[in-house]
Amino acid sequence: MMRLQLIGTTASLLAGGSAYADNCAMTIEANDMMRYNVREMSVPAGCSDITVTLKHSGKLEAKVMGHDWVLARTSDVSGIVNAGMAAGPAHGYLPAGDKRIIAATNVVGGGESTTVRFATTALEEGASYTFFCTTPGHATLMRGRFVFGDPKRVARVDK
Ligand code: CO
Repeated sequence: MMRLQLIGTTASLLAGGSAYADNCAMTIEANDMMRYNVREMSVPAGCSDITVTLKHSGKLEAKVMGHDWVLARTSDVSGIVNAGMAAGPAHGYLPAGDKRIIAATNVVGGGESTTVRFATTALEEGASYTFFCTTPGHATLMRGRFVFGDPKRVARVDK
């Protein structure tokens, strides 16, 4: 079940569980129930770079319920998750230097937050992107659609 939460000034949350970028920056939350608070994130094609802040709203420490936020083409997700598992906890369950990873945050535990900023030059309008958590077992539940430049969405964030 989706809970509606206020997450600050850099993102707008709709009841449908989506986050829309404002000034090319957005915040997404993760919790102790192994969930993100949105299923979709959308960024206007006009953004030259994107800032994503991951906030862990839970209480469990990172080694128990650590989360990250990783962006990749949807077709690369399972490969990255498997490579991340092989990389292990010392590397935040992320394969080092993996070119399939478009952006990735650090791993955070309850009460912590982390931010990643990345250029949109690697993104292609209309391509299928997915954001997900690489902690083993999490990506089944912790994943969502990432939209770059969908005109319908862009119209909603122009203010
Ligand atoms: Co996770």
